Amino acid sequence: MNGTVERESNKDRMRRILGKDGYARLFRSIDDAAGLPNEAYWNQEWFRMEQELVFRRSWVFAGARGELPEPGCMKPIDVAGTPVILVHGRDGVIRGFQNVCRHRGMQLVAEPCKKATLTCPYHKWAYGIDGKLRTRPHFDGPNQTGTFRDGGGERLDLIPVRVEEFFGCLFANVSGTAEPLADWMAPVLDQLEGYDLSSIRWAGKRDFEVKANWKLVYENYMEGYHVFSLHPRLLRFAPMDVRWSGEWRGSTFVNNYHFPKLEEGRGEGLPHFPDLSEENRMKGQWFLTMPHFAVEVYPDQFTVLVAYPEAPDRCREELHVFVVGEEAATGEKYAGPREDLINMWDDLNREDISVLAGLQQGRRCFGYDGGRLSPHWEGPTLAYAHKIIGLMADSEDYAP
Ligand code: FES
Ligand SMILES: [Fe+2]
Repeated sequence: MNGTVERESNKDRMRRILGKDGYARLFRSIDDAAGLPNEAYWNQEWFRMEQELVFRRSWVFAGARGELPEPGCMKPIDVAGTPVILVHGRDGVIRGFQNVCRHRGMQLVAEPCKKATLTCPYHKWAYGIDGKLRTRPHFDGPNQTGTFRDGGGERLDLIPVRVEEFFGCLFANVSGTAEPLADWMAPVLDQLEGYDLSSIRWAGKRDFEVKANWKLVYENYMEGYHVFSLHPRLLRFAPMDVRWSGEWRGSTFVNNYHFPKLEEGRGEGLPHFPDLSEENRMKGQWFLTMPHFAVEVYPDQFTVLVAYPEAPDRCREELHVFVVGEEAATGEKYAGPREDLINMWDDLNREDISVLAGLQQGRRCFGYDGGRLSPHWEGPTLAYAHKIIGLMADSEDYAP
């Protein structure tokens, strides 16, 4: 023994967890390939790799500016296992900080709220909403406040987390190393030429607890194959023969269809994007930008669905609905159609959730080997697995 321990590469680690055969089956042609093996949905080590190598290093959707409408509004959110606070600053910028006090490590904010300062519940260290430490009552002795004998200052300010905004959508990148958000989202913007995204306004959100691995949400999201079976209303709106599999363009999956007639929740009752082309007025489009930003765009909306991994067999979903113009988002005049729209998504998403727990449980059967994917519909599903593996393989070596 020479005392050196060989470091396992990310690729070898993935192969070991998934099994050599299961890993190899993923890379056959779609006619013969299988999906991800069960371990990708249940294994704790795999889950930690995804958090570390995919979510920490990517842009994660962190909510809507509309949830934090005024200076002082803040909300806690967990990003890739790191608790983060989003804070609307006095200058209008929404910033991110790790949700921890620099003294003894107390969580600072437990619920969305509005405050002038961030005061730690434990010994009342107080931080400005710009993250700067302001006061530490009694720290240097009884009744001594605001002295910084140890230098205090910057090294005790809240720890910043990178946050950027895309048309009212907030994104956080915990590692600080992701490419600029504008580059990340460029493929979505390319597809949405002719849509004035500066007109979108947040109309509300819904939360869902899902007893399934987060990838199952997106594998289901991409394929239109299940629509005839799970979504009777959606099928009437856009039948199977207007659908196709969609395709990946770089790190963004793109799918769309033309529908014959507007309906409530999709184009009817709410204002449309201004100056939309004839074609786009009867078009639905949806995207998935790696790893988890899914959005559906209709003439009257921009609806985001994101899943946050919580454990191998559990995730949390948020559905955020953006409509066109301030009046559509908040005006009394549109209260009815706005509610119809949000309810339509709520119903549709519950139809999907109805199979997710079963998909998770099915993956406890050792006889299931990743299954057989439909070459017509599920090529992008397989490519999604490749992309996740690609992100993990390309990252610096994982060192737990
Ligand atoms: S832990 Fe925050 S003030 Fe002591
Ligand atoms: Fe669905």
